[in-house]
Formats: sequence, structure tokens, C-alpha cells
Amino acid sequence: MTPIRARIAPSILSADFARLADEIARCEAGGADLVHIDVMDGCFVPNLTFGAKVIETVRRITELPLDVHLMVVQPEKYFDDFARAGASGLTIHAEVAPHMHRQVQRIKELGCTAGVAINPSTPLEAVSEIAVDLDLLLVMTVNPGFGGQSFIGATLDKIRRARALLDSARSGAALEVDGGVARDTIGSCWRAGADTFVAGNAIFSSHDPVAEIGELRGRCGVSV
Ligand code: DX5
Ligand code: ZN
Repeated sequence: MTPIRARIAPSILSADFARLADEIARCEAGGADLVHIDVMDGCFVPNLTFGAKVIETVRRITELPLDVHLMVVQPEKYFDDFARAGASGLTIHAEVAPHMHRQVQRIKELGCTAGVAINPSTPLEAVSEIAVDLDLLLVMTVNPGFGGQSFIGATLDKIRRARALLDSARSGAALEVDGGVARDTIGSCWRAGADTFVAGNAIFSSHDPVAEIGELRGRCGVSV
């Protein structure tokens, strides 16, 4: 079996936007695997963030894949613009995706990897029929909308069940977790079967983000 290595995806939601290029350069220096970009519309979640312009800007300053997390209603309205702006992957929320199969196929047609996210209160069954088609399943470990929230411990069991679902569907999807991921929580998520870890506050509020990425990765082993 191919060894599985933890992938770290710093969320720029917690970055200093006056120094965004430096912040992303530090993530690269720390060995980050992806840059996580949180798009919020003030409707699906009670906060507003970025659109295509920011994705395009980040695309110009890094070679890392851009992992775009769409916390918006009617996400399909943005697929074309975000793909054109340089998104590598688009993740939509199951709670606002009544035509998930069509939406996932459209994301792939645009040349992006396709992800689906589920909130802490959304049952895993919401994605059971689509698991085999996914490139990424995102299990939210906080209620989406803000950085710096506390990890919800009850989501660990869902991560375990998500791992089992992907395995039984023979899905090659990455299993990502997002929210409250830090030194004290990442190891449990890794052992529960997650392989891709979004971290905002833990990395960008650290006095040494380069080292922090290593600290986080060091809490995940290598499994074969
Ligand atoms: C929350 C976002 C997260 C957020 C994570 O709605 O989806 O990506 O940036 O931030 P931390 O790691 O600070 O919980
Ligand atoms: Zn996110």
C-alpha cells in the first residue's frame, strides 16, 4: 500500500492580509501542501469573506494547490469564475446542494477536484451515495463561519465513520477536517482516519508559522 502522509492546508482566513504574500511564503517554507481559501456569503454562514479576485491573487503568489471551501448558497453560480481564477479544488456544502451529483460532475468538468463538506450536525449519510465520486470529503469540526473556534470533540466519531464509508465505497477521496485543528486535536483526527488538515488560527497566530506546520505534521504518523 502507498504510505499516507498528512497534508496540511493553512487557512488564509486567519492570515494578515496586509502581508498575504509573506504569509503564504511562510506556509510554503513550512512545507504546507495546500492553501485553504474560505469563501463565505453572509447567507449560508453569518460572515463574508472573499471572491474570485482573492483566489486570482493567491494563484499568482504560490504554486501550491488552492483548496477553495465554498460556504455559500447556490455554489454553482461561482464554479466557472473560481475555476478560471485558479482554484485547484472546489468544495461545496451538502446542506445547500440538492443536486450534488450534477454539481460534483460540473466541478470536475471545469478541471478542479470536487469536494463535499458536511457540518457537525449533518449526518454522514448525506454523502453516502456520492462518496465514490468525490475527490475530497470535508468533515467540519466546528460550525462554519469563523476562524479560531474550539474543536467539537463529538466529530471524532464521525471522522471514523467517514473513513469507513470511503473505504467501503472504494473511494479514493481525501478525508479533510476543518475547524479547531491544532497541536492538541490533530493527532486524534489523524488516528480517526483524516489525512488532510485545515488550520488557520493554529498556524497564523503562532509566532513561528513555519515551525508550527512541522509541529502539526509531527503529530501525525505515516500509515501504510
Ligand atoms: C471555518 C473555516 C475554517 C477556518 C478554520 O468556517 O471553514 O477553514 O479558517 O480556522 P481555525 O483553524 O482557526 O479553526
Ligand atoms: Zn474552511
